[in-house]
Amino acid sequence: MEIHDDGQIFFEGVSAEELASAYGTPLYVYEENRIRQNFRRALAAFRKYYPDTRFFYAIKANNNLAVANILRQEGAGIDAASVNEILLAREIGLGGDDVMFSGNFLSDEDIRQGVESGVIFNLDDLSLLPRVLKYGVPERLSFRVNPGYGQCDIGAFVCNAGPDAKFGLHPDQVLPAYKAAKEAGVKRFGAHMMPGSSIRDPEYFGYVTGLLMDLVGRAGQELGIDFDFIDLGGGLGIPYRHEDAPLDIEAAAERVAQVFQQKIAQYGLKPPRLMMEPARYFVGDAGYIIGRVHAVKESYKRIVGTDIGMNVLARPALYGAYHHIYVNRREQEPRIPLNLCGQLCENTDLWVRDRALPQGTQVGDLVVVENAGAYGYAMSYQYNGRLRPAEALVNGTRHVLVRRAETIADVVGLMNVPDELKK
Ligand code: LLP
Repeated sequence: MEIHDDGQIFFEGVSAEELASAYGTPLYVYEENRIRQNFRRALAAFRKYYPDTRFFYAIKANNNLAVANILRQEGAGIDAASVNEILLAREIGLGGDDVMFSGNFLSDEDIRQGVESGVIFNLDDLSLLPRVLKYGVPERLSFRVNPGYGQCDIGAFVCNAGPDAKFGLHPDQVLPAYKAAKEAGVKRFGAHMMPGSSIRDPEYFGYVTGLLMDLVGRAGQELGIDFDFIDLGGGLGIPYRHEDAPLDIEAAAERVAQVFQQKIAQYGLKPPRLMMEPARYFVGDAGYIIGRVHAVKESYKRIVGTDIGMNVLARPALYGAYHHIYVNRREQEPRIPLNLCGQLCENTDLWVRDRALPQGTQVGDLVVVENAGAYGYAMSYQYNGRLRPAEALVNGTRHVLVRRAETIADVVGLMNVPDELKK
């Protein structure tokens, strides 16, 4: 995104005004080149320090298939959280060793479909093993480990490991899990963790790598098994606030590789592939929302009403998450504290409070929300009859609609009204 001298906001070579008039608002916009640059920067950093690195894109963050295809073209596999995400991966031609299935609290039907899909199955709990074995002995199996510690700079809500998390094997279960899998006839193994999200401290990545490597290293040594891959999860952070420092990706990669190699040597493991499954780092800062101001109210406070409600972007209302906001053609103006909301009938929809925004912000203006590419559209929902918006992709001066907005026909079409209720 760039702000030109006249104050107009551009996404690569396309203005917010052009996109708003082509597709309406609210609109999610993704910059293709930024996604590619993010992926390449991260992969180059990790491969510099550990050449056998591969990234699987966690498609939960943004399941637009145009976006997923960009990452596939860059060489990413897919991290799937559900059977339906395995099917999304299949839509872009990925399956088998290119897809990792890390579901949790799965139903028997999920397990059956997960096994039959032939993707890498990553078990969240030891109790899943006998249930998987009912459908045959997978040649390769992975376990998700809760290394006992997690972190997140969004809030405790998104801390995915440690004693309060619902994910992964307790450290004491790691050895019994691989032992049971080995005894069942599994030949190839992987290991996985996902201890936190949006971390910008490089030291964290080295630290959690050490925790996981000690647990699986001991199991490997004791059981005489090697690991095809060890997957360190996602978590590579982006700065949401402008005063926040970005993650030093080189430093993170260096720390991880150093610990990874040291533990491989310590436990005498055959060097595994280093896998990670980031999402936010690839797509987060490549996505924006364009909305329009529809009303400005003077009450106890001045409230600017836009069409970006908490149904369009859930993160602020859900986590208290911060997203920077720009106003098209007004960024040079002096600032005053303003409140900004969507159009829903709930006060959590007043999701920007006392923020220094351009003082002249008025009806008709376009507002742009930053860092909306990850967990943005993917967590949007329908409420108050406000439907999910469209998504557009820009590349240079080209733009294309990559998902149309929902219509009321989409909503009504899912329902069935029994005849007697129509009388
Ligand atoms: N792998 C697994 C197993 C995951 O559960 C996640 C995210 C990722 C990878 C990707 O993590 P990332 O690189 O994006 O940190 N809704 C929250 C984030 C929840 C993260 C859930 N798991 C948010 O809006 O910030």
